[in-house]
Amino acid sequence: MDFNFTQQQQDIINQVRDFTEKRLAPGVIERDEASEFPLDAFKEFGQMGMYGLCYPKEFGGTGIGYLPYILAVEEVSKVDASFGIAFSVNTSLYGGSVMYSTATDEQKKRFLAPVASGKAIGSFGLTEHSAGSDAAGQKTIATQDGDDYILNGTKIFNTNGPLADYTVIYALTDPSIGTKSMCAFVVEKGMEGFHVGKIENKMGIRSAKVSEMVLSNVRVNKDRMIAKPGEGFKLAMKTLDGGRIGVGAQALGIAEGAFKIAVDYMKQREQFGKPICKQQYLAFKMAELYADIEKARLVLYKAACLKEEGKPFTTAAAVAKLTCTDVAMKATTECVQMLGGNGYMKEYHVERMMRDAKITQIYEGTNEIQKLVISGGLFRK
Ligand code: CAA
Repeated sequence: MDFNFTQQQQDIINQVRDFTEKRLAPGVIERDEASEFPLDAFKEFGQMGMYGLCYPKEFGGTGIGYLPYILAVEEVSKVDASFGIAFSVNTSLYGGSVMYSTATDEQKKRFLAPVASGKAIGSFGLTEHSAGSDAAGQKTIATQDGDDYILNGTKIFNTNGPLADYTVIYALTDPSIGTKSMCAFVVEKGMEGFHVGKIENKMGIRSAKVSEMVLSNVRVNKDRMIAKPGEGFKLAMKTLDGGRIGVGAQALGIAEGAFKIAVDYMKQREQFGKPICKQQYLAFKMAELYADIEKARLVLYKAACLKEEGKPFTTAAAVAKLTCTDVAMKATTECVQMLGGNGYMKEYHVERMMRDAKITQIYEGTNEIQKLVISGGLFRK
């Protein structure tokens, strides 16, 4: 067990930190207010090879590793959690669906390489009005017609939906047998019948673009099918295991970002004749938060390392997601309190971080679902 970063991992952290300071910190408050996504910066980050860190070179990636990818999500999320989730969904949920599917190498080159190399943006269409925590409750139908399938349905809460060049759509070929017929396709922007529906107006991660994706008689050739009927549900679950480590990294980054702001503030802010960090009650609260963040980091990196090493990581990912997201909510709430009235004001950032933290306890499996996954693993025969 080595708790030090390799030189390569540290170089990636430094590169991401530099990008974040220059390209994401300026305007982060305004983008949140206007619900505006920094598309140019997102493309630039892709050109730096960040979306392919965990994918092999043959599929457009750099093959550097999974932990470096997680470190990069954590780093950007310290400043801009909306960017963090766009990055994570692009890489973990779109990229993961293609990479871990039974698609041929030719299909992986066609559908993964453009996203992993930063030339295109990906999105993930699983959730529906009837399929939230119960991911099996799908209604989207894929009807075979010769060499084609006709897709009909509505996906909701698609992060990157309005921006995406490629979206993975999970669908059923035979609703009477449910997930036993679940399959997955890559659908492309501009295909006839495929369009962006309602764009969500959100409490947090306001600059991330999240929407419905509507499929009305979308005709796709079978060469766009990346999971055959019966394979789709397990692919979605396997992909979400990875996505949950990404959300954990986003949440840890939010917690760390808010914590640093509070520490700096507490050293400067004087009340009762001394800096407020000299008030032991407040200092002890920060000590507790520091310990919570350190614990969250360990379980997050453990899950990432297990995945990188090809070992089972479902439970570790759920533990990481549950731990990091609860710490993010607690840390941001406490940090708003540490800043008092200023904490409630937009220019101090922590109120945005508190709003951003809330969704991490909800998406990619609510924290109640993470407890279901963890307890399921504990008591499986
Ligand atoms: N990896 C591989 N296979 C898995 C698996 C995993 N992690 N989890 C389950 N499976 C397999 C099971 O082994 C089982 O296989 P068999 O049929 O061969 O036995 C099959 O899948 C069904 O498993 P379950 O009976 O456990 O399935 P379930 O219907 O009870 O559901 C659940 C389990 C964990 C609750 C699942 O529905 C779930 O994860 N729900 C949450 C969904 C979710 O995370 N949604 C987020 C969407 S993305 C998003 O948030 C938007 C965004 O853009 C950020």
